[in-house]
Amino acid sequence: MKVNLLIIDDEQEMLKSLEKILSRKYDFNIRLISDSRKALELVQTKKYDLILTDLMMKDIGGMDILKAAVAKYPDSTVIIISGYGTIGASVEAMREGAFDFIEKPFTSKKLMECIDRALVQTKQESKNNKIETGVNEELAGIIYNSPQMDELIQLVKKIAPGNMNVLITGESGTGKELFARAIHSLSKRSYNPFVPVNCGALPEHLFESELFGHERGAFTGAIKTKPGLLEFADQGTFFFDEIGDLSLSLQVKLLRMLEERKIRRVGGEKEISIDVRIIAATNKNLDQAVLDKTFREDLYYRLNTIRLEIPPLREHPEDILLLARHFLAELCSKNDRKACRFSADAEKALLEYPWAGNVREMQNIIGRAFFLSTDQIIHRGDLPIPQQDISIAINREILASSYKDAKEMVLEKFEVEYLSHYLKKNQGNISRTAEECGLDRRSIHRLINKYNIIYQE
Ligand SMILES: Nc1ncnc2c1ncn2[C@@H]1O[C@H](COP(=O)(O)OP(=O)(O)OP(=O)(O)O)[C@@H](O)[C@H]1O
Ligand SMILES: [Mg+2]
Repeated sequence: MKVNLLIIDDEQEMLKSLEKILSRKYDFNIRLISDSRKALELVQTKKYDLILTDLMMKDIGGMDILKAAVAKYPDSTVIIISGYGTIGASVEAMREGAFDFIEKPFTSKKLMECIDRALVQTKQESKNNKIETGVNEELAGIIYNSPQMDELIQLVKKIAPGNMNVLITGESGTGKELFARAIHSLSKRSYNPFVPVNCGALPEHLFESELFGHERGAFTGAIKTKPGLLEFADQGTFFFDEIGDLSLSLQVKLLRMLEERKIRRVGGEKEISIDVRIIAATNKNLDQAVLDKTFREDLYYRLNTIRLEIPPLREHPEDILLLARHFLAELCSKNDRKACRFSADAEKALLEYPWAGNVREMQNIIGRAFFLSTDQIIHRGDLPIPQQDISIAINREILASSYKDAKEMVLEKFEVEYLSHYLKKNQGNISRTAEECGLDRRSIHRLINKYNIIYQE
């Protein structure tokens, strides 16, 4: 279904140029309207997917349009475009529920980025409705929208019903355990236990008796016979987290169990048959561990029948805002706070941050921001991530590019920000801007056209 976009501005010329810019990239149903009174009626009679409105108009202002739209359709996505120097209005607009606020001058690129973010939000809302009806429950609550994650999910759905062992790899905090749970809940074993253990958490002898159990008197302190976790997991799924930390002697025992499907308790003679599916996870490089002889090759091949590689968050940036907004919404509802949202520059910072600790780090950062802020809007300054003191910072995207592309990106950022600063300062007056920048008017126009900077005198 096509997105319905309504653009409101009392200047025909502005309407036309916005339409021209947007239809180059998007296939939207665009409606243009210059009569703000009519627009006010329109937004109360029809729900648009997206509304783009000017702030200062002759009869009715953008703020009234926003209020009317949100009052009638609370999940309306409204982007406000304003003239120069209207910071106060922008704060008010965000409070009233505007999705974002764009100040002139702005580039067509900036406008499109804003629209892209708005589209993600609209999509997420329809997805959230699905989650509420339970459709997504069996995926253990994995939130995603990116093609990379979708591909993984398709693989999970395909392999889950079988009995094959699965090895999940990925950096810390990428969601390895979540995927293990999703495999379990999509399998025929879902009514039986899912038992996770961390292979690095206990000293070896304790861990062995945890896993395999022990007979009475097997060692000092073993006053009672105790079945192990593997027995408890019978008919279910056993999750070996941090499998790379498993000692060599336990590797041998695990291998024997996988081959014979039987275990023996510590200090016991009897063999006990068990039927478990093994899922193992690690953030270490197991191939290297095999070469270093710290991980048995035969065990490695047993576990690695199916390999699931969870990408780091920075490699599926389409999911960043989706996840961030999800965690924030969850915190709000758990803590009975009114719906919160991120400001535009907070979202920009989230998108640019490299997320070395992946989704787990994001959960922590959003949690801290939520509890420290008292406002309904989480601002850039509330996020406990390093402030970049020059606005042309070398971000994730730039670092991932070749030198040539990176240089071009930095140059573009500089040219746009530099020029926008002077255009704003001089309220769109080209002659004065040229004079203050030490350029001629032609060069200013050339830059404005190069980056499609939208300004107004
Ligand atoms: N796609 C996702 N959707 C929703 N929540 C996610 C997603 N990925 C990760 N999480 C959440 O992030 C946190 C970390 O995930 P998980 O524990 O599965 O990662 P991990 O790879 O096992 O991390 P670690 O290496 O730190 O043990 C969990 O709270 C999990 O619920
Ligand atoms: Mg984990």
